[in-house]
This record gives sequence, structure tokens and C-alpha cells, in this order.
Amino acid sequence: MARKQSNRRKNKQYEAAKKNLGKPFFESKEIAIYQGDTLELSSKLPANAIDALITDPPYCSGAAGCAVMADPSKKYCQSGKTLGRPSFGGDFRDQRSFKYWCSLWISQAFNACKDSAYCLVFIDWRQLATMIDAIQAGGFCYKGLISWDKGGSARAPHKGYFRHQCEFIPWGTKGIVPRLTDRGPFAGSYSIGVKQTDKHHMTGKPTPLMQKLVQCVPSGGLAFDPFCGSGTTLVASVLEGRYAIGFEASEQYCEIAARRIEAAQRGELLKFQKQ
Ligand SMILES: C[S@@+](CC[C@H](N)C(=O)[O-])C[C@H]1O[C@@H](n2cnc3c(N)ncnc32)[C@H](O)[C@@H]1O
Repeated sequence: MARKQSNRRKNKQYEAAKKNLGKPFFESKEIAIYQGDTLELSSKLPANAIDALITDPPYCSGAAGCAVMADPSKKYCQSGKTLGRPSFGGDFRDQRSFKYWCSLWISQAFNACKDSAYCLVFIDWRQLATMIDAIQAGGFCYKGLISWDKGGSARAPHKGYFRHQCEFIPWGTKGIVPRLTDRGPFAGSYSIGVKQTDKHHMTGKPTPLMQKLVQCVPSGGLAFDPFCGSGTTLVASVLEGRYAIGFEASEQYCEIAARRIEAAQRGELLKFQKQ
């Protein structure tokens, strides 16, 4: 696996962003993971430090009034088989409080972003409108919608349904969209299937998809994922020569992310082993 080289000199932007965050759970070369609550950690980020907020928060989709849908191990693994992927927290909010909560962490990230920084947030069909509101409430100018087509194996509750085959990535910028000369325009739609060997989280995103999305970060620039889970954004950043900081509440997922990053830095993609 080829790995693009980033500028290995001490990166002032990356060092400044970490300055008040305390001891990382894991750090290696250009990537740092902090374990804790994103609202608490994000409040310690300095202004003007980040090139892109790229994240995949708990969607809290269908959580209201339905205890089953607020339990990720039942919601995302309907067969009941988690295959050893740990469950995770934060997926319980109803739509109103989800919007309020998202606007809080997005506005914290907005403060930490540079002018013209990108904001890319994953969401499903059910919470899409809510997330578009939250992105704007958080301060970003909403600029468009990227679709991620997961393919024909995506779930349909029964035959009468059109498959829930796509997830969405509403995107925006802090002020004007930068006029890039070295890369872009970026595709607005991606058809990339989920490979079980590349899925280390119940809701893990494909590494090749995240490699496409981190292209909005300048080479050697800094990506920020406040819900990094198994670390797919961070692995993609390694592979594409970007710096990255991730926050994650679950110790188990911090550990999984760290192992994946170490492998990527050796030039390997760690394979998920089912249990
Ligand atoms: C949808 S998953 C991210 C999956 C990731 N994209 C991947 O490919 O592995 C969201 C993650 O956010 C974490 N999380 C939930 N609430 C959090 C909070 N308040 N602070 C930090 N992390 C949180 C969960 O533990 C979960 O791992």
C-alpha cells in the first residue's frame, strides 16, 4: 500500500492545536487521539487552528421514543451479532436535543477552524435536514450535499421499500469556499461498498471514502474528527499525508484506532477480525 509523505518537520499548526488538550491517549508522528467528551475537549482548542472538520457523529436516528433504536448494538446489528465490534454511547437523543447538541460541538469546531475551513458531517436520510440546520447554527455556510452510495447490499426493511442505500455528507465552509489551484473540484458523490475487513466500528466508514474526503485538507494540513470511533478519518489522513486530531469517548475505540494508525504508518491496512 503506497503512503503519501507529509512534511515531517515540526508542524506549528498541529502543535498549537494540541497545546491545551493535555496528554493524548495515543500519538504517533502526525496523528493524535484524545479520549473524552468532545464538548469538554473541543473547548480547549485554540482559534484558527484547523483546516477541516470531518466527522461522523452518532446519528441518534429514530432514537426518540424507541429504546431499541437508541441501543447501537441492536440498531446496527439487527441479527444480534456484533462480530466483536464494541457498542458505543451518545446515540440516544431525540431530534430536538440532537440539533441543539450538534450546534454546540459544531460551533466549538467552527471557532477552532481557520477562515475558509471545510466542515463535512456524515448523516442519514432521517436526520439530514436537522444536521443541515445544525451546521448553519454552528456558524458554517452550508454549500452542498455529498452522497455516499453504499451499494445494493444496504438494508431495506421489507420489499416495499426503496433501499436506504445512501448516507449523506452535508458540507460547508467557514466563510467563502477557497479557490484551490492544487486540487479539486472534488466529486459530489461516491459509490464505495463497505468491506467487512475494513470495518472496525459498528458504523465504520470505508477507508477509501475517507481518503477522498480528506483531499479538502491541504497536503500537510490539519484535519479534526471529534467523533473518531475506530479512527478511519485518522487512518485516511496518514495515507494522504495530512495531520489529524481525533476525539473519542470510548477507550476500546481509542485503542482500536491507535492500532489502525500504527499499521497505516507501517504501510499496512489493519484487517478487522471477527470474534
Ligand atoms: C458513528 S461513530 C464514528 C465511527 C467512525 N467514523 C469510524 O469509521 O470508526 C461515533 C463515535 O462517537 C463516539 N462518541 C459518542 N459521543 C461522544 C462524545 N460526547 N464525545 C466523544 N466521542 C463520542 C462514539 O463512542 C462513537 O465511537
